[in-house]
Amino acid sequence: MTPDDSFNSGVKRPGSARFNFNELIFEDRVHQTIYTEEEIFQEEMSKVFGGVWVYLAHESQIPENDNFVTSKLGLRPIIVVRDSTGRIRALYNRCTHRGATVCRSQQGSAKSFACPYHGWSYFNSGKISGVPWPDGYADDFSDPKYNLAQVPRVQSYRGFIFGTLNPEMPSLESYLGGIKKPLDEWLDRHPGGTLSFCDANRLKFNGNWKLLYDNSADGYHVIFSHRSLLAMENRLVERDEDDKGMSYYKTSPDNAPFYVKVFENGHHYKDKRPAVDTSPGGLWSIEGPHPGMEHYETKIREKLGKKAGRVLDLASSEPVNINIFPNLHILGNHVQVSQPISLTETDTTWWGTAVIDENDELYGCVDAVNALRMRTQESFPNFGELDDLMNFEQIQTGLAGAEDEWIYMHRGLGIPGRIKRDVDGYLIGPPTDEVFLRETMQVYKKIMMSEPNLVIERDIDAVFN
Ligand code: FES
Ligand SMILES: [Fe+2]
Repeated sequence: MTPDDSFNSGVKRPGSARFNFNELIFEDRVHQTIYTEEEIFQEEMSKVFGGVWVYLAHESQIPENDNFVTSKLGLRPIIVVRDSTGRIRALYNRCTHRGATVCRSQQGSAKSFACPYHGWSYFNSGKISGVPWPDGYADDFSDPKYNLAQVPRVQSYRGFIFGTLNPEMPSLESYLGGIKKPLDEWLDRHPGGTLSFCDANRLKFNGNWKLLYDNSADGYHVIFSHRSLLAMENRLVERDEDDKGMSYYKTSPDNAPFYVKVFENGHHYKDKRPAVDTSPGGLWSIEGPHPGMEHYETKIREKLGKKAGRVLDLASSEPVNINIFPNLHILGNHVQVSQPISLTETDTTWWGTAVIDENDELYGCVDAVNALRMRTQESFPNFGELDDLMNFEQIQTGLAGAEDEWIYMHRGLGIPGRIKRDVDGYLIGPPTDEVFLRETMQVYKKIMMSEPNLVIERDIDAVFN
């Protein structure tokens, strides 16, 4: 880090003390300003998207040296690259010369990047490799100040790559804390304990990024917001009971055996597995009908007989929601990543995931399983997510009246015995409870009231942990 690379070096930082978050966030409610005020959004892009560990990409997107994928850290365009030595870096996708976006491809393989504007070029380590007609410059470009900036701290947890600009943050593993357990369980059900990303459904909504996070463990809305999806999944099959998809929400979910659990740092988890049959073939039995699935199911059943159930379960959406603050969600077989664009615009990408079966644990059926997983990928992001996005847009619309100030999140608050603690001390509530939202808002408040000293790096050999 050179002295110029500290945001505290005299350059005015975004954000201000104009907002007192103690007056905006209470235990039972938040002020709508946090969704409508541009200054707060700009401050979030520094303190949240920069100040904490933010998900950037998955290692399966850059399996070989020189592979890269473009991403964002808040509003900052980033190139996540496995450089020629194998080190994973998150380079600012911003030319050191006059700021143009250097790499304009989503994904690929490159030993170096050349800026399309005036041709300055950089090795995939971020080091400047040359400029056109260097005789026109008095200096020789050996100073690291000409290298691409990079995110100083980049760490992976089991394939998920995160970055932060905050030297004070604890390690990624410590930031993830208790949410590692459900993440481990979700990964470990796949052969080899890993998977690879496929392509994605890309959606955008006209609403603040927090609206998506606020909904990520919300079991209160399911039966109402997704009514048509649930009806469709159950109408198209002949069964005695309407038990497909998320039907376990349909009557009195708070008395059902599933729950929401709140971890540290704003992470939370909805575990719906206790509500479903997890014996072999149980998960598959509640998978809704998806066009094209019959062919693959028949193929797997014919080939494997009794062993088919467990293999088909791998094609089903596991009923969990794993939410890692501020932008990573794992639902069923999908990985959803949210990306703020502006105060009232957010991108959300639903990555499909494929099973890797190096030791043939699926008895030669891995391609059929992955084909079925794509059929499930086509379902919720197309038919369920749109319900959610419409709600987010309608909230943003509703917040236009500044004088109607408060948003309530007190479902479950003050009811004795409703919220419990598990043996590790984490809060557990019934699935429709808003305890996850209340706790996340307290984490958010603490972040917004902090003053992180964010830095960037240009020395390509620097090692941050
Ligand atoms: S802005 Fe990149 S070379 Fe000029
Ligand atoms: Fe939803």
